[in-house]
Amino acid sequence: MPNQYQYVKVFAPASVANVSCGFDVMGLALDHPGDEVVARRTEEPGIQITRVTGENGVLPTSVSENTAGVAVRALLGHLGSDVGIELEVHKKMPLGSGLGSSAASSVGAVVAVNRLLGLPCTSDELLTFAAEGERVACGTPHLDNVAPSLFGGFVFIRSREPQDVIGLDCSKPLFATVVHPQIEIRTEDTRKILRRNIPLQKAVTQWGNIGGLVAGLLKGDYELISRSMQDVIIEPIRSVLIPSFAEVKEAALDAGALGSGISGSGPSIFALSRDNETATAVGKVMQHEYEEIGLDNEVYISPINKEGPRILEEVQL
Ligand code: HSE
Repeated sequence: MPNQYQYVKVFAPASVANVSCGFDVMGLALDHPGDEVVARRTEEPGIQITRVTGENGVLPTSVSENTAGVAVRALLGHLGSDVGIELEVHKKMPLGSGLGSSAASSVGAVVAVNRLLGLPCTSDELLTFAAEGERVACGTPHLDNVAPSLFGGFVFIRSREPQDVIGLDCSKPLFATVVHPQIEIRTEDTRKILRRNIPLQKAVTQWGNIGGLVAGLLKGDYELISRSMQDVIIEPIRSVLIPSFAEVKEAALDAGALGSGISGSGPSIFALSRDNETATAVGKVMQHEYEEIGLDNEVYISPINKEGPRILEEVQL
């Protein structure tokens, strides 16, 4: 019987959803940044969010409005449990940045509570509960941030209902560069502006690229990864909301990135490179573009996180 705990603190990683051509079906996890979530047992039944730090305390502590609270409520509802749980959510990355911030909090929360309770739920069940957090954050329970944050690595979502999620193990190293220009874009808003119908020729190009990207990752073929990282459907619409998008992307490719695009729904822009040195050089030129127009920004350089969430501290019952 697995141990039960009084207190568990979990790190859950940020993620890059879509990865250019894979709108809603592809995502990757970063080693850093990530959110930290504490779960603690209490005498009083039910869920309480006692602290939210980072992001200037703008996030709600009401369980039904906070992604972590909603995700844990779904978990306890599934178990039919009224155990008393206090949550603390420590935001370590910006909201509305395209780094999967809400997903990381939901994933951290369900992983921490599942461990607290002696692992009653499977990872696939945790994915469903974390997706409920995504539903409250942006209106749809898409899995392309929660799945990589929960499982680590590159993840391909063949289907959301029924849930069919496949981990893609890239046999070659890959490093991500993510530049976050300090403006906020709400995923919910950027989904509303997308077209509902797609010309057949564009759809053919897009599914050619997603197949190529999956094959490139599995074969460890950098050239195939590079030529497949093209998004002809979503990027042309959303990129107009991101200052200097074309310049930043071009600078990343010129500096040696394999590909570059919008991270999730933006405004962050990501690039993938073969090694840390290239990823660092790519980060410098991307940042330079924002310095040119006087826009504050942050850059993150990270290998792909292969493990998903990490237990940082725990106290046994
Ligand atoms: N696939 C989602 C979207 C990810 O692009 O709207 C949001 O982070």
